[in-house]
Amino acid sequence: MANRPALHAEIVGWGKYVPSKVLTNEDLAKSVDTSDEWIKSRTGIAERHIADPKEASSHLATKAARAAIAVADINPRQIDLVIVATVTPDYLFPSVACQVQDALGIPNAAAFDLNAGCTGFIYALSVASRLIAAGAHKLALVIGAETLSRVLDWQDRTTCVLFGDGAGAVLLQASEAPAGLLGCTLGADGSGADLLQLPAGGSRRPACEDTVKNRQHYLKMNGPEVYRFAVDAMVRASRAVIEQTGVLMDDVELVIPHQANVRIIQSAVKALKLPPEKVFTNLARYGNTSAASVPIALCEAVEQGLVKQGDHVVLVGFGAGLTWGAALVQWGAPLPVKLPFWKLALYHAVRPLALARSTSHRAALRARTIISRVDLNGHKP
Ligand code: UT7
Repeated sequence: MANRPALHAEIVGWGKYVPSKVLTNEDLAKSVDTSDEWIKSRTGIAERHIADPKEASSHLATKAARAAIAVADINPRQIDLVIVATVTPDYLFPSVACQVQDALGIPNAAAFDLNAGCTGFIYALSVASRLIAAGAHKLALVIGAETLSRVLDWQDRTTCVLFGDGAGAVLLQASEAPAGLLGCTLGADGSGADLLQLPAGGSRRPACEDTVKNRQHYLKMNGPEVYRFAVDAMVRASRAVIEQTGVLMDDVELVIPHQANVRIIQSAVKALKLPPEKVFTNLARYGNTSAASVPIALCEAVEQGLVKQGDHVVLVGFGAGLTWGAALVQWGAPLPVKLPFWKLALYHAVRPLALARSTSHRAALRARTIISRVDLNGHKP
C-alpha cells in the first residue's frame, strides 16, 4: 500500500446558538430561596438562556451547525460524519445527530450521539479528529448541544441556578497541514456516578408514578464533591495534554475551560500558574451549558479575536460519569472574511431545501410501507 501523507483534522468552521430567552438571577430569586449576590459570589453566573418550549437539543444543535457551515463556506452535502455530544437528547433514540443530519440535508453521513457529561465535546472532538487522521472520514461536524432546563428541578436552589441551554459546533476537515488536534487526554471514574446524575427514565429506573412523585426525572448533584473532583481533574488533564504534546504551557495562547463555576476555574488557573488573561470565561452570561460550554466559549473567543492562526489552545473539562478530558489544538484557520450577501442568502435557502428533501424521504418511506402491506395482504393464504 502506498504511503499516504499524515492527515490532521483542522477546525475550518465554528458556530454557536443560544435561545433568546434570558433568565437572570433576579428572576430566579422570585421563585426559589436564593439571591443574585449568592449566585454571583459562589458561581460567577449572572444569567442563563432557556430554550423555548418548541425548541429541543436538535434544534439548538442544527442552528449552531448552520453557523459553523457558513463560516467554513462549504457545501453541507460533503459532511460525512456528525457527532453530537449531549446529556439532554430529544429522545433516548433516535440520536440528536441523526436529526441534525436530516435537518441539514446531509445525505449518507455517519451520525451518532456521545454522552460523556460536560466533557462530551472534548471526547467528540477527539473521536472525530482520530477518525479523520485514520482516513475514515474527511469532513466532520462536532456539536455540543444541551437543553438542561428540561431536566432541572426548578424547586431545588442548589442546582437550578447553575445551568443553561445552548449549542456550539465546529467543522473538522482533513488536512495535510499540521493543525487541529495536537494531543488529547480523556479519562473516567465510574465510581463517582452518583455524584451527578439523572436517576430515572433509563433502563434501571423506567418512568413510573413513583419516579415522578419522587422527582427522580430531575438532575441531582452533590455540588461540593463535584467541586473537589473538578479542580483536580482540570489541573491533571491540562498537565497531561501539555506533557503529551511537548508544547510548553508558556506557548499556550489560550485556555478554554468547561464553564461550570468561576471559582473552580480560578483554583485550577492558580494551580497551573497561568496568567488569568490567558483563560477564557463567559459563564456569567450562559451558566453551565454542559457539553455545549466549551464549543460556545471557543466560538466566542474566536469571534472576539482572541485566537489567531498558529495559536495553541487548550480545551479542558470535567463532568458526569465522572469524566474528564483536555485537548490541545493548534488553530489553523484564518478568521473568515465576511460572506457576501448572496452566499448568506444561499445558506438560508439550504434550510427549505433540506426540509423538502426530508419530507419527500418520509413520504417515500410511508408509501413503501403501504405498498408492502398491500403486497403482504394480497399474498395472505
Ligand atoms: O459541570 C459539572 C457540574 N457541576 C459543577 O461543576 C458544580 C460543582 N460545584 C459547585 O459549583 C458548588 O459546589 C456549588 C455552586 C454547587 C455550591 O457552592 P458551595 O460553595 O459548594 O456551597 P454549598 O453546597 O456548600 O452550600 C453552602 C450553603 C448551604 O447552606 P448552609 O447549609 O450552609 O446553611 C446551601 O444550602 O449555601 C446554600 N445554598 C444556597 N443559598 C442560596 C445552596 N444553593 C444556594 C442558592 N442560593 N442557590
